[in-house]
Amino acid sequence: MPPPTVCSNLPDTMTAKKPLAPLVTVEDLTPLEAAEELKSLAKNIATHDRAYYQEDAPLISDAEYDALHLRNAAIEAHFPELIHADSPSRRVGTAPATGFTKVTHSQPMLSLDNAFDEADVKAFTGRVRRFLGLDQTEMVAMVCEPKIDGLSISLRYEGRTFVQGATRGDGETGENVTTNLRTIADIPNRLPEDAPEVLETRGEIYMRRDEFQDLNASQEKAGVKTFANPRNAAAGSLRQLDSSITATRPLHFFAYGWGEVSCISSDTQWDMLSQLRSWGFVTNPLAVFHEREVDCIAFYRDTVERRSELPYDIDGVVYKVNRLDWQERLGQVSRAPRWAIAHKFPAEQALTVVQTIEVQVGRTGALTPVARLEPVTVGGVVVSNATLHNEDEIVRKDVRAGDTVVIQRAGDVIPQVVSVVPEKRPTGSEPYVFPDHCPECGSLAVREEGEAVRRCSGGLICPAQAVERLKHFVSRNAFDLEGLGAKHIAAFWIDGLLSSPVDIFRLENKADKIAEREGWGTQSVENLLATVETRRTIPLERFIYALGIRQVGQATSRLLAKEYGSLTTWRTAMTAVSEGNEEARADLVNIDGIGSSMAEDLAIFFAEPHNTQVLDTLENELSVENFTTPESDSPISGKTVVFTGTLEAMSRGEAKARAEALGAKVAGAISKKTNYVVVGATAGSKAKKAEELGVPVLTEVEWIEMCGG
Ligand code: IVH
Repeated sequence: MPPPTVCSNLPDTMTAKKPLAPLVTVEDLTPLEAAEELKSLAKNIATHDRAYYQEDAPLISDAEYDALHLRNAAIEAHFPELIHADSPSRRVGTAPATGFTKVTHSQPMLSLDNAFDEADVKAFTGRVRRFLGLDQTEMVAMVCEPKIDGLSISLRYEGRTFVQGATRGDGETGENVTTNLRTIADIPNRLPEDAPEVLETRGEIYMRRDEFQDLNASQEKAGVKTFANPRNAAAGSLRQLDSSITATRPLHFFAYGWGEVSCISSDTQWDMLSQLRSWGFVTNPLAVFHEREVDCIAFYRDTVERRSELPYDIDGVVYKVNRLDWQERLGQVSRAPRWAIAHKFPAEQALTVVQTIEVQVGRTGALTPVARLEPVTVGGVVVSNATLHNEDEIVRKDVRAGDTVVIQRAGDVIPQVVSVVPEKRPTGSEPYVFPDHCPECGSLAVREEGEAVRRCSGGLICPAQAVERLKHFVSRNAFDLEGLGAKHIAAFWIDGLLSSPVDIFRLENKADKIAEREGWGTQSVENLLATVETRRTIPLERFIYALGIRQVGQATSRLLAKEYGSLTTWRTAMTAVSEGNEEARADLVNIDGIGSSMAEDLAIFFAEPHNTQVLDTLENELSVENFTTPESDSPISGKTVVFTGTLEAMSRGEAKARAEALGAKVAGAISKKTNYVVVGATAGSKAKKAEELGVPVLTEVEWIEMCGG
């Protein structure tokens, strides 16, 4: 049944009762009549489920909906032989919309690094100059524009016609929302003749604040779900399965960037913005171009002041290096460009009361205290939980149940408790005592020396850790199993349907059991199993990330995948590390970006037989794709290079980025696996070591020639 909604203010068309044909008492129905009525009820209920769950637009009140279910149940009770496998009594509600196809972006949709204060911005421009080998006093002109709080979209034009639009998704793959985007007036369907043959315009879909309020008012009037903020309203409106609903929603689009373009005639970001305008896109009228950093900061301060006057929500300012040749040289690191940064607005704060302090157990056993709060709206979002980070933080701030606290929320960051308002503390309150046992499994919770975090020692027997590990395994950047959300994982775990990640790939054996569960029907189970099938093939870096090894996040997983190439090679090497093989360990820590503490965590993971057993079972079920380096016919492709000494022509950072773009691996120290050592000025001991090991040493000029100039 749909969650209860207050329908007392439904429009007349929805509440007015049509005179219904009197229902025949169930006992008086013939089996044929009963079968007919069950069929019609199933159809009817399915229509209302769709209207409620997928279109946010119920056609009847909750009471009427319940009456349909009651009648269905009464007939089924009397004629159990007529219960159909797909009966509404077995299929409570319809899974939320899952109907968009996936689109692989021709160029990844990047996100932005954040700067939280002016010092971070200075550090950013400093990094840019260093990377480009510029003097620290040299001017780096920037385009500055507001950071719109909406959702990013890529619009693809071929032959100057809009052919496909997709959400960002995980940056590599998004959802195909073309039909819905066609309903937005700011998105041109045809581009003028001078636009490129292939153009991917990127930008932000948003809803204005006044339109969001109007939409919520009418949603409320209709007794249907309201949205927490304009961003959610824009996202919810765009992700409608029925584009005629999207068409009624007030959505807008600002273009601020591009992906694949067949031919770029601009050489600056600023000029590209004006080209986008000339092709019919709307760009933000507040965007400016500044040569000096102080002016960029002045733009930020001015935007902070004007923020509340703007008709739409923004959550910061974005600075982008203006020269496109510099943007290209700067490239990207992980999933963010080196040439842009988001200067975020200060966090928004609010006062509320701590109801209780609870401790959550994460997948690595870390105990995190969370304040359960009296719900309060901060920056347009209702907040009812805030993190207290760790044991020391609670002591430092002396947060207690019943305290009035200042909480803050910055962007997508988890809300935090900033401080206690001591004068509002209730009398008789006691300091919080952090548990020394896991609240989930009762095992001892240990805090190791030098660590801020206390961890449950229950490992494999701790249900919280098991569930969190499974949630991580299916999360978006891992196996991306939409449809097997956090709630389902916990419920499946409790009921024994899932205990290890491999069980996900054996769910077909449990299909009947799942279909019997509340909220599931044969169709949604089929959808889930179909998605699971598509995930049996997975890139190595995602697979490594999915394992949830401590400290091994997305960036590290990618480094490991790149270094070892295949699952077998990686496993062999990690097993060797865990067995104390010095050479394997040296190779691991020699990867730029991997330190000894990460190596230690990898060794611990591989030393645990249960983990290797999970890996074995997963290998049987899956096909893990080898890491593929970008196609390159460069002589340095696949080679391992070490830079040493000061380079003249470019910074060390740029040299590394270029080498990697040509398919080389850059290591921090020389080993037998090093193919070349590139020596700049003032080369020290590394050059000597290279000679000792017989590794070819190149001058910077020789290296640049080898890279193709
Ligand atoms: S540029 C390669 N400019 O912010 C750079 N992003 O936190 C791509 N956003 O995913 C982004 N306003 O959805 C850029 N003026 C603006 C933006 C903007 C909003 C969003 C965008 C991106 C997110 C990153």
